[in-house]
Amino acid sequence: MEKKNLVSGMRPTGKLHFGHYAGVLTNWVKLQEEYNCYYFVADWHALTTKYNQTENLRQDKLDVVLDWLACGIDPNKSTIYNQSDVPQIAQLHILLSMVTPQNWVERDPTLKDMVKIIRNNDTSGSENTTQMSYGLLGYPVLMTADILMFNANVVPVGNDQLAHLEISRDIARRFNNIYNTEFFNEPLPKLTQIPLLKGVDGQKMGKSFHNDIKISDDEETTAKKVMMAITDRSRARKTDLGHPDKCEVAFTYYQYFADEQTVQQVRCECEKGERGCADCKRQLGAIINSKFAPIRAKREEFAKDINKVKDILSEGGKKAREQAQKNIEQIRDIINI
Ligand code: TRP
Ligand code: SF4
Repeated sequence: MEKKNLVSGMRPTGKLHFGHYAGVLTNWVKLQEEYNCYYFVADWHALTTKYNQTENLRQDKLDVVLDWLACGIDPNKSTIYNQSDVPQIAQLHILLSMVTPQNWVERDPTLKDMVKIIRNNDTSGSENTTQMSYGLLGYPVLMTADILMFNANVVPVGNDQLAHLEISRDIARRFNNIYNTEFFNEPLPKLTQIPLLKGVDGQKMGKSFHNDIKISDDEETTAKKVMMAITDRSRARKTDLGHPDKCEVAFTYYQYFADEQTVQQVRCECEKGERGCADCKRQLGAIINSKFAPIRAKREEFAKDINKVKDILSEGGKKAREQAQKNIEQIRDIINI
């Protein structure tokens, strides 16, 4: 049986952190076996909010792909590309925008949240940056073009993207109705079961919150950041009886990164007051560092040979364009344009 199609993308935010690793990348890597995967860097989407901050865009795009490759996204299994290298997506975006009612995008709750964040971050007070651009309004339509371009059956996304994906399904259905066709699949979300890892301060992990540990951080930096992880706040001394389940960050990292036996041992010693938090986190840092050693080595290797990464992207772009061109020709026939 032919494999089903899967599309997913990430905005180029630069070096990725543990949250991306645990919440997204491990899942993407597994899905490569089961699906025909298209993984892309959403650089047009980056411009919807950061059109005036493009100084580091090219480096950020490469950094994202370096992390993907290091974690096991495999160009021999998946198609890896930059969104903007596939102009057929822009063409599909225009075509889909014609059949998308304006109020569908205007009531997209995820988009409303994004606008709120932009407004809150904006300190310039200038009209230009506080207004939603035409491009940003089209965010969910562009995302739909990304997905329908390769006729995806499934789209792995986080909860925060579900509202967008609902619009994608609606647009696919509406297109099929209008043109009396069954060309587009209605793409289904594929949610991950993996718990999201919090930042070292116990808040949501994020680059802008300065509480993240990067996949590419060196061992010393990682160890230092792990030492800042929040523990059971009611504990002052090693001999105080601890509560691992109230150890907000450190123990949850143990549960994610350490083997079962180690987790049990930590729990037991913590509860009996036989384990100090500093020692506990030193051990945790070592466990995390050994887990990431091969990933970081692989990243280093690719980083030294950045032309290889560029080649992978240009090969992926070529493959994506070829498939996209076939599809867009069929779509043009369906519309009669
Ligand atoms: N909007 C997604 C995000 O911010 C990125 C994205 C763009 C995407 N196009 C997509 C994800 C298509 C899945 C499918 O995370
Ligand atoms: Fe958390 Fe370890 Fe401290 Fe227990 S000993 S509270 S598990 S850091």
